Amino acid sequence: MLEEKISEINSGFNQDIVTIKDQKQLEELRIKYFSRNGLVSQLFNELKNASKEEKPVLGKSLNTLRNDLTARFDSLKVKLEISKEKEEDKIDLSLPGTRRIIGSRHLITQTLDEIKTIFKGLGFSVVGGPELESDYNNFGALNFPPNHPARDMQDTFFITEDFLLRTHTSPVQIRVMEKYKPPIRVIMPGLCYRNEAISSRSYCVFHQVEGLYVDTDVTFAELKGTLVSFAQQFYGEGLKYRFRPSFFPFTEPSAEMDITCFLCHGKGCRVCKHSGWLEILGCGMVDPNVFDNVNIDHEKYTGYAFGMGIERTALLKYGIDDIRIFFENDFRFLRQF
Ligand code: DAH
Repeated sequence: MLEEKISEINSGFNQDIVTIKDQKQLEELRIKYFSRNGLVSQLFNELKNASKEEKPVLGKSLNTLRNDLTARFDSLKVKLEISKEKEEDKIDLSLPGTRRIIGSRHLITQTLDEIKTIFKGLGFSVVGGPELESDYNNFGALNFPPNHPARDMQDTFFITEDFLLRTHTSPVQIRVMEKYKPPIRVIMPGLCYRNEAISSRSYCVFHQVEGLYVDTDVTFAELKGTLVSFAQQFYGEGLKYRFRPSFFPFTEPSAEMDITCFLCHGKGCRVCKHSGWLEILGCGMVDPNVFDNVNIDHEKYTGYAFGMGIERTALLKYGIDDIRIFFENDFRFLRQF
């Protein structure tokens, strides 16, 4: 009797197990065979009624049945779990893709690159110099008198008594003239530091591009021609410009170059402080004292130099009203360029 039931349950299980497709059906299978009142447990209950002689034999068959069915149940369970995971891994081709943000060059880098390209086209090479400078290169060799206000602790980040974070790119002029013999025609871009109150117009770090041309017979007319050509390429052809006399310790004579305000086209607005003009750079003829400091014969050679602030230049060109935005690295700003 029990023997027959064992084989019935075995074949019944064989039929049932092949129909199982998901976890729910698997659970139904478990309840049908292995729960407290399941078919396998029922058989164990019936074992009580078997005769003493039959008991060990039937008990053994029952155990074998139970172990066999449990093993097959477990392996099906594992199989179903794996295929469920695979199902979850499937790619849904109808899902919208993850958008990847493509990086771009910072607006300041773009501006610097553009300036470099223009000056390379005019015959200039590009040279760099260190941001940590000697007091001598930053001031002394550039003909700043010992008590000049620019050396003041309020403007300059001094590292030691003799070393500082350069306040302009002009000290690279000194390095270049100490190292190379004329003719020299270079631009010198780089970072500068000033201990200034931070506002929409000034920041403690900024970029400058310095220019220097030294040769026999370099004239102020050449300086003007070069800078006008630069400004027209950079700001646009129809631009109006003017040179105003100015003062820098390392140039004589010195000038500042203005262009018409492109926001108001010269009518006068907040940006140009109602003058119609925007100052874009300082320039002049290299002071003979500077030539003396680097052992270049000022009887034989003349030269011009110029320097411009890049953040300021980019502000003007792209109509941006706060210099601090260049250093915040806010994606919403950077992505626009
Ligand atoms: N170094 C000056 C500054 O930071 C800018 C400058 C003016 C540079 C005149 C020059 C120059 O080379 O000739 O304000």
